[in-house]
Amino acid sequence: MAITVCPVTPSFAAEIGDVDLSLPLKPSDLADIKDAFAAYAVLIFPDQQLSQDQHLDFARHFGPLETTIALHRKDARLRVRKEFADVSNLDHNNEVWGKESRQRMFQLGNRLWHTDSSFKRLPALASLLYARSIPPIGGHTEFADERAAYDALPEAMKRRVESLVAEHSIFNSRAKLGFTNFSDEERAGMPPVPQVLVRTIPESGRKSLYLASHAGRIFGMSEQDGRALIDELVAHATQRQFVYTHRWRVHDLVIWDNRCTMHRGTDFDDLRWKRDMQRATVCDVANSCEQAGIRIEAA
Ligand code: OGA
Ligand code: MN
Repeated sequence: MAITVCPVTPSFAAEIGDVDLSLPLKPSDLADIKDAFAAYAVLIFPDQQLSQDQHLDFARHFGPLETTIALHRKDARLRVRKEFADVSNLDHNNEVWGKESRQRMFQLGNRLWHTDSSFKRLPALASLLYARSIPPIGGHTEFADERAAYDALPEAMKRRVESLVAEHSIFNSRAKLGFTNFSDEERAGMPPVPQVLVRTIPESGRKSLYLASHAGRIFGMSEQDGRALIDELVAHATQRQFVYTHRWRVHDLVIWDNRCTMHRGTDFDDLRWKRDMQRATVCDVANSCEQAGIRIEAA
């Protein structure tokens, strides 16, 4: 039996049924999943029982995996394998983190619209987030379709943004939250990187905006003009008609295409409820400027 693709929205999110991701995948099922991924950009696999290894094995079908940036943090104590971004609100004893925990401050960045790892020279192609436990209310994840957002831009704006390049840094998004006490070592570990503002997704041929709260200045523009343009584009790209809100069920696995979506987590009482989620993250094939044939001098 082949997989079942059940659209949740007409062209952005779909649920995938009749597949057990804990087992080796049939090549035809994998091909169908990749086709659906190219068409939709967000796929939901409900009711999957996955060990850490099975989660990572499925992710590897999409490319090589990242390791967590928590390794750059001076205070990191990992609860899960180093290939995962631990998106939970739990400490290394599986207890809800404290109000003042540094991990908490760091993860608050997930509440801002972003795409994963655009602050790395080699950004993320796909993310696969798995829910082991969820809060009874809140803690949803919103996704914005940046292909649809690009298509809806006025022609003059399409021409304006066509070959622009922005500088992305994780310290831009953290600074927006007032979180600035990073050591020189932490800063040196994650220097700013260039990324295009518009990219073409090879599998679908569709053009997409490529934005994130990590984006700061735009090359060739003043600091203020660049930031204003990015704010304007993010406001455009996150309008209701481009957004799908995922309300988690335990054992959902959700995969999204970081090249053409933004996402953010919604509020929940993180000092009260356990939200245990891990993300496996697949690397892109090259920096977005390199893929577009644009050469940028080191900033
Ligand atoms: C992520 C992320 C948001 C959330 O895992 O990359 O941004 O809702 N998560 O947990
Ligand atoms: Mn994220």
